[in-house]
Amino acid sequence: MKLLHVVGARPNFPKLAPVSRQARAVGVDQIVVHTGQHYDDAMSAAFFRDLGLRPPDINLDVGSATHAVQTARVMERFEPVLLQHRPDWTVVYGDVNSTLAATLVAAKLGFRVAHVEAGVRSGDRSMPEEINRIVTDRLADLLLTPSRSADKTLRAEGEPDEEIMFVGNVMVDALLYSVQRARTIGFRRRLGLSTAPVTVTLHRPANVDDPKRLTAIMAALREVAAKRPVVFPVHPRTRGQLELGRFDVGSVKLIDPVSYLEMLDLVEGSHAVITDSGGLQVESTALGVPCLTVRDTTEWPETIECGANRLVPDPAEIPGAIASMARLDDPPRPEGWDGMAAVRALDCLRTR
Ligand code: UD1
Repeated sequence: MKLLHVVGARPNFPKLAPVSRQARAVGVDQIVVHTGQHYDDAMSAAFFRDLGLRPPDINLDVGSATHAVQTARVMERFEPVLLQHRPDWTVVYGDVNSTLAATLVAAKLGFRVAHVEAGVRSGDRSMPEEINRIVTDRLADLLLTPSRSADKTLRAEGEPDEEIMFVGNVMVDALLYSVQRARTIGFRRRLGLSTAPVTVTLHRPANVDDPKRLTAIMAALREVAAKRPVVFPVHPRTRGQLELGRFDVGSVKLIDPVSYLEMLDLVEGSHAVITDSGGLQVESTALGVPCLTVRDTTEWPETIECGANRLVPDPAEIPGAIASMARLDDPPRPEGWDGMAAVRALDCLRTR
């Protein structure tokens, strides 16, 4: 059997790692195609290194562009690659533009597509990721889900039962595999932190591209930073907006994007996390670190249900919420967040 994995942006890489490791363990042929949606060392190659992935076999070098142009570039450049390699499965991950583009190409050429992290929905179609998820799931032939709520969503959308396979959360596989190593790198020590910080990541256009919204969020972060250290690894999109608007960051410590292991070390030692990322809601929950999600929806309802995550649509609520949060003694483990999701995913792929 031959797998062709397609990845492109930072959140894809920790999902690829456990699946490709398990494919190697069971002797399955595989090729990794990187679309080049993310290209900075810190957003891409650093993740491959930390996750023990060998460099991609093929890079489509699409770079940054509008959604339509980026999606079209991936489609144009991926089509000949797919025709040359003719895999048994094209495996796509998560919800980025590269996921959608590769799925469209494969489905039109009649190649089977497996979607890792199928059925995840925020219910908010103003998010580009939501459009990517809906179209990918509609076209994919095998829907590998991370949660029971994702199964239910897919059934409600009319997907056939035989396409839906609950495997669990591959991001948790990656985390459990790497967390011991992250503890040895001493990243928090290098940052000179004397007490547990609050770790912040923000990159959603709805939060960072609107100057009024970003002003309100930065005011809340300055207030939090007056009481305890706040570390904010800044995504390139956010960096651009912060520089453009010359925002007052107070004592918030802005740092460059961090690698996978650095982020695990930072989050595990944090008092709490403030984020708008999907992945970080999962990772903080799996580490038992409380999370505030600066959005009015989430694609990970189980993180809320188990008490690890809370939505704070209004940034003014952030300082009060942070003050009242405490770490969870036993990290919650929703069903299938057990480090074995990739094993189950490979079983599904090999028996189809
Ligand atoms: C993309 C994904 C988003 C994911 C996020 C994680 C889509 C629709 N969005 O959003 O789901 O949560 O990645 O990071 O696929 N840039 C660089 N260097 C890079 C990559 C980007 O400087 O290596 C800058 C460019 O100015 C670019 C901007 O960041 O225009 C945004 O990049 P893009 O990939 O379009 O979207 P993200 O916001 O990163």
